[in-house]
Amino acid sequence: MINKTLIFGHRGYPQKFPENSLDGFAYAINHGIDGLEFDVHLTKDNVPVIMHDEKIDRTTNGTGEIRSYTFKALRTFQLSDGQTIPTLKELLDLAENKPVHLNLEFKTNEIHYPNIEQIVLDMVKNYDLVYPVIYSSFNLDSLKVAYKIDPTQQYCLLADHDIKNPRDLMAKEHLAGLHLSHYQPLRNVKERIWTVDDPKKQKALLSQNVAGIFTDDFESAEQVASSLA
Ligand code: G3P
Ligand code: MG
Repeated sequence: MINKTLIFGHRGYPQKFPENSLDGFAYAINHGIDGLEFDVHLTKDNVPVIMHDEKIDRTTNGTGEIRSYTFKALRTFQLSDGQTIPTLKELLDLAENKPVHLNLEFKTNEIHYPNIEQIVLDMVKNYDLVYPVIYSSFNLDSLKVAYKIDPTQQYCLLADHDIKNPRDLMAKEHLAGLHLSHYQPLRNVKERIWTVDDPKKQKALLSQNVAGIFTDDFESAEQVASSLA
């Protein structure tokens, strides 16, 4: 059976909007993108917010770690075009009842945010989403904690290297898939590959029918996909 590879906007649509910004997410959802990938941290007062880095220095006019700010204080900073740092709730409000796959990355590989898994899972379950959220993390411990809280969800491990004995690991840790920086030929494993912006690589992966690719420029990837159809 031929499966369609889903094209995910990596951090939204960073080719056209600030990465992980609400305008980028909204544009992509209105366009009808297959899926969106985004990164979640917690503020000092436990509000899940969307940003890639642990610190706000690179993408806003502020400095310091997200976890050192209350949500109210964090909102005083701006992204490069004046937007504020989005919350998970704002993205879920946009995505509710829309045919978009959400890949929520727990950004817990450098900082452990106490209780982030419970806070996020509790929030997501209040929404009517067309597709179940795909949870991912480089931090296997986060996925294990999340699985204990809700074993019915899909948890995928992120890795920037080949995974040894991937099927054993997936079975042991109840993983629904692997999100890899390099394609590792594995039959019957849901593999999603990041970050694929080169049209030649996109073509190759689409032809392999991987489960998904993440790209910074999803409209270009869609053109590549249509050229293969
Ligand atoms: O989830 C794919 C990709 O986002 C993982 O790397 O560093 O961009 O979050 P990073
Ligand atoms: Mg990410």
